[in-house]
Amino acid sequence: MGKGHGARSQTRKAMGMAAAFMIALGITACTSSIEPLTRASHNPTVSEKVTIAFRATLTTLPPANNTPTGPLQCTATECLQKLPDGMLWWAKSKGANAVSGPIAKEWLASGGAAGPLGAPTGTQSCTDGGCHQRFEAGTLVASPSGAVVVGPAFVEAWEANGAEAGPWGVPTAAATCTPEGVCTQPFAVGAVVAVGGSSAPLAPDVEAYWSAQGGADGVLGHPTSLAECGLAGESCRQQFSGGLVVTSPAGGAHRVLPQLVEPWTANGAGTGTWGLPSGEAACTPAGSTCRQSFTGGQVTWRSDVGVLDCRTQQCVALTFDDGPGGETTRLLDILDAASAQATFFVLGNKVPGNESILTRMESEFSEVGVHALTHTPLVDLNAAGQQAEWNQASQLVSAAIGHPAIYGRPPYGLHNADTDATAAAAGLRLVFWDVDSLDWSLRDPVATNARIMSQVEPGDVILMHDVHTTTVDGVAPLIDQLRAAGLVPVSLSELNSAGLPPLG
Ligand code: NI
Repeated sequence: MGKGHGARSQTRKAMGMAAAFMIALGITACTSSIEPLTRASHNPTVSEKVTIAFRATLTTLPPANNTPTGPLQCTATECLQKLPDGMLWWAKSKGANAVSGPIAKEWLASGGAAGPLGAPTGTQSCTDGGCHQRFEAGTLVASPSGAVVVGPAFVEAWEANGAEAGPWGVPTAAATCTPEGVCTQPFAVGAVVAVGGSSAPLAPDVEAYWSAQGGADGVLGHPTSLAECGLAGESCRQQFSGGLVVTSPAGGAHRVLPQLVEPWTANGAGTGTWGLPSGEAACTPAGSTCRQSFTGGQVTWRSDVGVLDCRTQQCVALTFDDGPGGETTRLLDILDAASAQATFFVLGNKVPGNESILTRMESEFSEVGVHALTHTPLVDLNAAGQQAEWNQASQLVSAAIGHPAIYGRPPYGLHNADTDATAAAAGLRLVFWDVDSLDWSLRDPVATNARIMSQVEPGDVILMHDVHTTTVDGVAPLIDQLRAAGLVPVSLSELNSAGLPPLG
């Protein structure tokens, strides 16, 4: 048994706190590298330097904690000296620092110098809000609410802001960083972001919105930029991994649909004709069409054309009468897969039991119109009879979709002055057609589509019926043929550019 081993055994027996100190030194109980002060001659240069440094540090400590209570313990590169409340720590490159009080307790609990914090690199500072001290891996904060490390990306700014007594307050959880090096840490003030050497708290309205969306675990993920606030027409804009968040007094806080960020910016962002986002974007199940409200109007994005705008694109309206029926759901699947919408003129007496089909039409940005109640030629009825047809059908549709329909189409397109007046009284705008597909008669997708394509022109309304299997079979190829001809298949509201923001 060598001398070193004997010294180690003695140390282990003699010192109650030895295990904790060894942890602080980053060494395990079975190494032979702890050298008590009595063996300082073993490395006189280090022990002398350490003693001088420790003596200087002791003068900065409160009297209750400035008297060594045990021997100096050293490895080749690190030394510690036990104090009544903690210890003095010396390391070759870090100099001498005292670690005391709750900071010492937390540091030792985390593994001391061998733990994730590493060695102390600064002196402890205390305010009314708690104490903090720099370590290699960040600043350890011990406050009445617990101990947390301020991430390295935040240390400078947090201390410059007054540390735990400043506006950020104490950190409430550990920092997290993206692979790109953008870090976020929650403080009492809320989340603080650090990007490229700068850091700032999230704006309060961005913070509230981010939290409501599930924070870092939600759709927005982590912030990836500092907030830009005070921009014209808006209060703040901040990039997250899941998209751009814009907040404003006029529109509230919303994520701009990622596909719309570029066109919105090109339109002038908050100062363009779209204005500021005023609602969350919604998309169809296949994601082929999405819509978002802005203070300037409603913007529809489609996978075929990007931002849909029939004032600048050659649109044609697809309309389907006489449903809903057994093929309507399949037709909606086809429309979503093909990134297209249509207007459905439904019969009032087919609405009960099919309400969910109507709500699906609306949720996928197709639209429900009124084809009267019973498919009786309205011109065979007196004014009161016609009014009853429109009113009852409108009420059934309105109850199903939650708002009144705006378009009406009389059965067979037959109408007289009473039809027009009673439809208007029911709040319906009558729409007929430009291209009659004769699908009900042809019952052949190829022939029906050939007939449509031989007549259709930009701006036209195409009449079809979703109650025929052959019609629904022909819709996907029809959309392909329309697109090949440079035409964009849409609903009537889109054809009429209803609700769009003004052109820039
Ligand atoms: Ni009809």
